[in-house]
Amino acid sequence: MSAERRPLISGNWKMNHNHLEAIQLVQKLAYAIERDDYAVADVSVHPPFTDLRSVQTVLQADQVPIALGAQTTHEAERGAFTGEVSAPMLAKLDVSYVIVGHSERRALFGETDADVNAKARAVLGAGMTPIVCVGETLDERVSGRAELRVAEQLTGSLAGLAAAAVADLVIAYEPIWAIGTGETATPADAQQMCRHVRSRVAEAFGDGPAASVRIQYGGSVKPGNTPEVMAQPDIDGVLVGGASLDADDFARIVKYRLYQP
Ligand code: PGA
Repeated sequence: MSAERRPLISGNWKMNHNHLEAIQLVQKLAYAIERDDYAVADVSVHPPFTDLRSVQTVLQADQVPIALGAQTTHEAERGAFTGEVSAPMLAKLDVSYVIVGHSERRALFGETDADVNAKARAVLGAGMTPIVCVGETLDERVSGRAELRVAEQLTGSLAGLAAAAVADLVIAYEPIWAIGTGETATPADAQQMCRHVRSRVAEAFGDGPAASVRIQYGGSVKPGNTPEVMAQPDIDGVLVGGASLDADDFARIVKYRLYQP
């Protein structure tokens, strides 16, 4: 990764842990991740909505520099949207990063690129940073359409955003076939796609935003494969699902520099 882009290591807890379990996990992380680690990387955790207030309280009380994240948001500020949570509500809880367009949201809850775009705008509007997820299915990869698919998702998800906003956001490339399956893209394949993502950003928004936008890889990231993934020049971080539920594993991922690729 580039020296100018600070790595971002994010743990997406998905629908795991009630607020008491969340407190335990974040306390373990607070102990396992050290000052030296935060000096060289940003770290975020993305608990379920019901845990956010509890995790925020622990992070604040102990002055732990882990950034609080959410897993999605509704695009409207308020209103008659039963069951939904808005970006200003998340911002009020000191949430810094919000994942938008995770493949599970796209596949299981029907989110389109236009929805992802509206959510990214809402997150930016509330002063937070979106982590915009893109990634192809296995079918699209084997039929040679992976780059095209990811380019389409980027075009739709980032449509109309200001170049300055794009410069500061995070894009997560997560091949769907690698999520929760134990399959990972090879570091070379992940690099090639992240390079492609950066080129598409350059085409649409210019070289400045392309040089500064942070691109994460996600999909079966584990302590063992993180050093090699992070050694790729266009990969600036990882979005971790399963392994982020284990404090020791997540801390080892954050400390990837200590392990040789
Ligand atoms: P995984 O999930 O690490 O369990 O594959 C990654 C993700 O969905 O963000």
